[in-house]
Amino acid sequence: MFKRGSGLEFLLVLCGLKFSWSCPRHCICYSAPSTVSCQAHNFLSIPDGIPPDSERIFLQNNKIHRLLRGHFSPNTVILWIYSNNITYIEPSTFHGFSLLEELDLGDNRHLRSLAEDTFHGLSRLNALHLYHCGLTSLPNNIFQGLRNLQYLYLQDNHLRYLQNDTFMDLHNLSHLFLHGNRLWSLNQNTFRGLRALDRLLLHKNQIEWVDRLAFHDLKRLTTLFLFNNTLTELSGQCLDTLPSLEYLRLNDNPWSCDCKALSLWEWLKRFRGSTSSVDCQAPINMIGKDLKELRKEDFSGCSPIISESRAQTNNLSGTVNPSMNRGVAIGSGGTHIVHPSRPGPPKNCTKPRNRVGKKKGDNEVHHSKEVMTDKEDSSPDFSEGGKHDHTSPYGTVTQRKHKCSPRTTVRPPSGVQQANNKAPLSKSLLQVQALFVALILTSIDYILR
Ligand SMILES: *[C@@H]1O[C@H](CO)[C@@H](O)[C@H](O)[C@H]1NC(C)=O
Ligand SMILES: *[C@@H]1O[C@H](CO)[C@@H](O)[C@H](O)[C@H]1NC(C)=O
Ligand SMILES: *[C@@H]1O[C@H](CO)[C@@H](O)[C@H](O)[C@H]1NC(C)=O
Ligand SMILES: *[C@@H]1O[C@H](CO)[C@@H](O)[C@H](O)[C@H]1NC(C)=O
Ligand SMILES: *[C@@H]1O[C@H](CO)[C@@H](O)[C@H](O)[C@H]1NC(C)=O
Ligand SMILES: *[C@@H]1O[C@H](CO)[C@@H](O)[C@H](O)[C@H]1NC(C)=O
Repeated sequence: MFKRGSGLEFLLVLCGLKFSWSCPRHCICYSAPSTVSCQAHNFLSIPDGIPPDSERIFLQNNKIHRLLRGHFSPNTVILWIYSNNITYIEPSTFHGFSLLEELDLGDNRHLRSLAEDTFHGLSRLNALHLYHCGLTSLPNNIFQGLRNLQYLYLQDNHLRYLQNDTFMDLHNLSHLFLHGNRLWSLNQNTFRGLRALDRLLLHKNQIEWVDRLAFHDLKRLTTLFLFNNTLTELSGQCLDTLPSLEYLRLNDNPWSCDCKALSLWEWLKRFRGSTSSVDCQAPINMIGKDLKELRKEDFSGCSPIISESRAQTNNLSGTVNPSMNRGVAIGSGGTHIVHPSRPGPPKNCTKPRNRVGKKKGDNEVHHSKEVMTDKEDSSPDFSEGGKHDHTSPYGTVTQRKHKCSPRTTVRPPSGVQQANNKAPLSKSLLQVQALFVALILTSIDYILR
């Protein structure tokens, strides 16, 4: 039918449709921007005939297994291939894709691993979706050079560790989602370099150990979620390194509200932003109480060691001893300035615990955790007025349909939002266009006979 050639093309152009002649079977192609839409068609592999000039490629909700070099052209700007069954990505698949801005590989739960250089050279990449991909670890340097990245979605994987300096190059990163993994410790190099980070979501992990300097580069962080972890303590000093913090959630951790909690209690008293409850689970006389509601007297029996170290910290306010700070940036605006009261190994925000005997239990816990997603998502806590209402982690991006997991997104990248908003419109527009084209084609067919 399409072979009828130039007369037909002319007609279509007249009708305002620039039709791409090499559109893959079962897909819809349109221009401005040139787009190929092949979603939800049970494709087992990348369909042949994707026009090389395609800027936007939508392949979500298929059953694609592998991504290989040559499947896409370096002209690609947006590629959505979430909710497939990708198990392998050839490392060079995206090499030379210097125009790529958004890559959504999320919800490919058998993916499990990625090669170190998979994303190298994607200098324009703005949003990278790798949620729910069964990832157990991230190779060294996997995000190297992604200086334009603003949104990195790594939630709902099985990550236990983050290598030192994994995010080092991500100077533009604004949102880092790591919730729903199996992280248990955050050290001083875990988040190094994330100077533009606005939101760090770490809830629903197994975090029990946070280095005192873990957050020290995050000068612009406004939102930190640590709820539903296994924290028993967190030093106020740790949070003092976050001058922009506005929203903090610490609920659903087994907080120990003894003397170890004093510095957190003091920090909470000073903090002007919004916090969740901090529910005590120990000692026995404190169970069920909220640390925030405790009074000074509740800490009256605390050992002088803790009070003393606190006093020393206060005493050091306003002074900076370069030899002691090892390049650590000091708190903002002269308030809550923190640094070690003496040289030597830094104090930890939490005490390390023995992980060895715990492993079996971890897995058990995790089974139930995965099932609980929906319940957790409907948790009512942290309902702030104003600015951040729309950024609740429980707000999901509604436009994109998911077979499998809910898409837990605070605020989608602007590109996504646009695409989302357009999606339903262009879909119906396309249907009308398709109908129209079909009508013309039938009549031409009829006339030409
Ligand atoms: C997805 O791929 C995995 C691994 O190859 C396979 O075991 C599974 O059956 C596939 N699932 C679907 C729905 O095709
Ligand atoms: C990562 O950084 C921590 C804290 O400085 C250090 O103790 C640890 O040895 C580092 N790990 C590696 C693998 O370099
Ligand atoms: C990303 O960072 C560069 C500098 O590294 C800066 O010029 C640019 O404005 C940043 N982009 C965004 C969106 O913040
Ligand atoms: C400094 O510490 C001493 C005790 O070590 C205390 O008496 C004093 O009030 C502190 N000064 C400030 C400014 O906190
Ligand atoms: C801090 O954590 C490190 C690493 O686990 C540990 O070796 C050190 O003893 C801890 N220091 C304090 C003061 O708890
Ligand atoms: C924390 O996570 C566990 C496992 O997912 C779940 O059972 C529990 O209800 C969660 N707590 C809250 C209050 O979200």
